[in-house]
Amino acid sequence: MSSSQKDSSLLPPRILNGSKKEEEINYDNSLRPRSLDEYIGQESIRENLRVFIKAAKIRGEALDHVLLNGPPGLGKTTLAFCLATEMGSGIKATSGPAIERQIDLLVLLKNLQQGDILFIDEIHRLSRVVEEILYPAMEDFVFDRVVGKGTRAKSRRIPLPRFTLIGATTRGGMISSPMRDRFGINFNLSFYTNEDLKKIVTRSAGIVNTKISEEGAFEIASRSRGTPRIANRLLRRVRDYAMVEGLDIIDREISDRALERMGIDVNGLDEIDRRILECLVIRFNGKPVGIDTLAAYVQEEPSNLEEIYEPFLLKMGYMAKTPRGRIAAPEAFKFFGKKPAGEYCEQGLLEI
Ligand SMILES: Nc1ncnc2c1ncn2[C@@H]1O[C@H](COP(=O)(O)OP(=O)(O)O)[C@@H](O)[C@H]1O
Ligand SMILES: [Mg+2]
Repeated sequence: MSSSQKDSSLLPPRILNGSKKEEEINYDNSLRPRSLDEYIGQESIRENLRVFIKAAKIRGEALDHVLLNGPPGLGKTTLAFCLATEMGSGIKATSGPAIERQIDLLVLLKNLQQGDILFIDEIHRLSRVVEEILYPAMEDFVFDRVVGKGTRAKSRRIPLPRFTLIGATTRGGMISSPMRDRFGINFNLSFYTNEDLKKIVTRSAGIVNTKISEEGAFEIASRSRGTPRIANRLLRRVRDYAMVEGLDIIDREISDRALERMGIDVNGLDEIDRRILECLVIRFNGKPVGIDTLAAYVQEEPSNLEEIYEPFLLKMGYMAKTPRGRIAAPEAFKFFGKKPAGEYCEQGLLEI
């Protein structure tokens, strides 16, 4: 299908980017699992958390601080809320950029009850000043408030309730090591298997009262870039197509037809992914490309490339990162029906 035939009116241009759109927040929330039992996949994380929760409960203490790292849409926020349910504690949610001043943080912390959770999304975007004031709060449950300036400045120690900080980040590498060290529990969420995504799609279809066949759910799952939020969005769009066509069940055919019309190929790659691969393979023929050059070529923010697009392309073996830049990997050449060339071969990473 040529790109001109794609029905882009039915699809937000960035449906695959995993970030949130205002009007989707309600849909997203209605599909959010509320407990660890409902949370699908990420088995080892769940198993470990169950142990830590049990131990904390036996000791009658708050859960240790938790850091969750992973690309957008993998279930970090969902997991934080599930933890609150499991601990039977309250949760307050904020984000790194929203805490501008020390006093903002103090207000948040002072309002927590013993054992409550403070969830800070995008924790890598906390300012240095706020980050430093967070250290004693996390370690000793005290807030060192500096009053006055210069030689007359005085530090006042304010006790805080014992709380659990859950930090979420899409950029684990940007968390300073003193910060990271203060989290007793540190997890990297991984992309979901197609089988797990199929379960997620089937569960979501049930919640929104839509019939879906096993094959229909698998088709959507396998084109969702390993990401639950994308799976749920694609389900919503496919449901629109099925409704317009008067179908009472989502089967493989309607899923396939709808996804193809949205420009999402069998591997879940969208227009931007394809442009990235085109740049690496066709334009640079496997030679290293700097992030800014790549971003300019695909007309995306470098940070979006790093946070949203690259993790999946790296995982699927389409590209690799080297000290000299991004390079096309064999899968990317295969995608264009070309023989691998460039840095990947020269570095002996590939025998040809
Ligand atoms: N493990 C999971 N099982 C079922 N649904 C999930 C799971 N993880 C995420 N989701 C769905 O995906 C959506 C996005 O998850 P979210 O927690 O907001 O991702 P993140 O915070 O990592 O960007 C949620 O609304 C939820 O419906
Ligand atoms: Mg989130």
